[in-house]
Amino acid sequence: MKSSYLKIDPWKIIEEDFSPEKVMSSESIFSLGNGTMGQRANFEEFYSGATFQGSYIGGVYYPDKTRVGWWKNGYPEYFAKVLNAPSWIGIHINVNGVPLDLNTCTEVAKFKRELDMQKGLYTRSFEAQLNPSCRIGVEVKRFLSLDEGALGVIHYFIKALQGEANLHIDSFIDGQIKNQDSNWDDPFWEHKNTSHSNAFISLHSKTLKTRFDVCTYANTYLVTANEDFNSEFCSQEKEGRLSQIKEHSLAEGEACSIVKFGGYVTGMHHEVSGFEKEAQRIVSEAKTSGYESLLINHQNAWANIWSHSDIKIEGDDKAQQAIRFNIFQLNQTYNGKDAHLNIGPKGFTGEKYGGSTYWDTEAYCIPFYMATKDQSVARNLLKYRYDQLDKAIENAEKLGFKNGAALYPMVTMNGEECHNEWEITFEEIHRNGAIAFAIFNYERFTGDSSYIPEMGLEVLVGIARFWTQRVHYSQHKKAYVMLGVTGPNEYENNINNNWYTNYLAQWCLKYTALQVEKVAKESSIRFQELASKLNWKDSELDQWETIASQMYFPKHPEQDLFLQQDGFLDKELIPAAALLIEERPINQHWSWDRILRSPYIKQADVLQGFYFFQDHFDEKSLKRHFDFYEPLTVHESSLSPCVHAILAARLGRMEQAYAFYLQTSRLDLDDYNKEVEEGLHITSMAGTWMSIVEGFGGVQVIDDHLHINPKLPKQWTGFAFKINFRGNLVEVNVKSDQTIIQCKNKDLVIYCDGVVVKN
Ligand code: BGC
Repeated sequence: MKSSYLKIDPWKIIEEDFSPEKVMSSESIFSLGNGTMGQRANFEEFYSGATFQGSYIGGVYYPDKTRVGWWKNGYPEYFAKVLNAPSWIGIHINVNGVPLDLNTCTEVAKFKRELDMQKGLYTRSFEAQLNPSCRIGVEVKRFLSLDEGALGVIHYFIKALQGEANLHIDSFIDGQIKNQDSNWDDPFWEHKNTSHSNAFISLHSKTLKTRFDVCTYANTYLVTANEDFNSEFCSQEKEGRLSQIKEHSLAEGEACSIVKFGGYVTGMHHEVSGFEKEAQRIVSEAKTSGYESLLINHQNAWANIWSHSDIKIEGDDKAQQAIRFNIFQLNQTYNGKDAHLNIGPKGFTGEKYGGSTYWDTEAYCIPFYMATKDQSVARNLLKYRYDQLDKAIENAEKLGFKNGAALYPMVTMNGEECHNEWEITFEEIHRNGAIAFAIFNYERFTGDSSYIPEMGLEVLVGIARFWTQRVHYSQHKKAYVMLGVTGPNEYENNINNNWYTNYLAQWCLKYTALQVEKVAKESSIRFQELASKLNWKDSELDQWETIASQMYFPKHPEQDLFLQQDGFLDKELIPAAALLIEERPINQHWSWDRILRSPYIKQADVLQGFYFFQDHFDEKSLKRHFDFYEPLTVHESSLSPCVHAILAARLGRMEQAYAFYLQTSRLDLDDYNKEVEEGLHITSMAGTWMSIVEGFGGVQVIDDHLHINPKLPKQWTGFAFKINFRGNLVEVNVKSDQTIIQCKNKDLVIYCDGVVVKN
């Protein structure tokens, strides 16, 4: 088992001892976000060592011109990048003329970072020996307010521990920022006007091409040893950097605090002409409230979140810390208030994956948000796709599909496809099925039957039409086949008849047909509106039925097994356990052709289908497929261990389920994939939540009723979780000898291990 340099604590992530090679990893792990904006845990003071600077604003992106070797028709013109935004956190300090730089100072002692997940507060403290006669102590507290999305707060305390410290404080906004993943090294921002007075600085910037207006603001004041508040800073503007500067001397033993408010006001929510006024309002209200009271409000907002979503694990702090870290990060990334926003695989913690929307949202994230928040949050995630349906139809048209067929993009920011590897962009079409599945899952869980007639049916019909045109009848097989696809297992490309994709397509056709009939029967006026909008013909139902009933599925000739794709048995089926440890992960060691020829599976593929459609397959069938596919799976996608944890728990293989749980939940804390420096795996964190609630908790909705079939890993003495099922908070407390289920609504029928619970 991997071990981390981070301390184990049920509510906190703690790093002790300064180690320059861990700086970038910790910058990811200690990242902060409030759903509106987020930032990596970069130091406020100057740091000359290796660092990955990152500040991000939800929904602000740049269409970076596509870079590929061989252009293929249908490729998108750009890849939408989540943009590194101007940073407002910088506080550079010179002490007696020497820059405070942890990379170069004589000694760094008592270094500690702490992320208090209960309070949403990040603190960092250290002592720095700058020269033989000067030592200072620093303690920084930082949070991004949940109360006021546009506000971040830094409290930077400095004490002269040895000798006097003449401080030169430069608190600034840095507009000279770049994306590490830029394709052509193009500038992404242009800076318009700036404003600076002693107490306040702001920088109005505009993204090139997408024309997002952003005002980055900051306000700094100093609280001196005798509690005087001093806002008299000199301001300065130099090369895209706006500073507030102040000299302040500390006698030995004396201390002061620099308090900085900063953040962004954007054109998405405010008129450009009112930017400064709005920023000034935020600052003035923050100053009136004061640091302590802002922090209390922020902590209360976190307390409220935890009261609906905390999961308690008894007897295993490592597992406890991990689930809270996952829940914490999910809440930092997305709050569901704005249907324009979605959940990027790296959230606000890095640039990789472009910060855009993937099938991850529907397949992995929706269950978490659906069960821990008001149903409007999951509905907003569904609405996001509804709002982009026209673009999905255009996208399909570009590829030659007709008649309202919709292909949702593999990766998007605004509904347009921006992924450009043909084997994924054109072929990893199972994403369409996950979007349809999420609609079904949402109605099943929330009981909200208004979504489908209002919005969902149009999406379902668009998707069903796509599948209808994407399959064709094979005279040879006497069945409908789907050629040239990539399943969730991206270690196979351009394969024929991926079982998972064919199964999803068949299911979509049947499910959509049922929904069409239901809306026609129950909301006939709405159906007539839709029928004319969609140019609907009843003959489509017959066509869907024909295809669905004759869909081809590859099968093992001797065993009762579905094959991942045609020809899978031709592979050399050597279990992944036989791979050399030095060659793992294979995607960092093997050539691509070797990976493609191998039997190794990146993430659940056939088993993803068994997870989605658990009630379609009995336990024996699940066992056979799990035993065949899991040993070939290398789990090199962060989305893999969670699905396997759920299925292993369902099979009662608790040791294996527990190992997968640790792998999914501590993926970033223990850096399993050796890439945490690039940012956190946010979307797989929702999978971690699923592995407890759906795996160990055995939560399922069957025939409109909540079923709970808990299984306790032996490493735990108990665990407890809460879910919002159809507007009712259900609390489940699992112990080795009993399960207590509580819900205020006494009429809600809940099953535990198949038996109705007396509530
Ligand atoms: C996975 C995809 C996923 C993407 C973003 C890839 O590594 O294979 O399934 O959508 O990461 O998380």
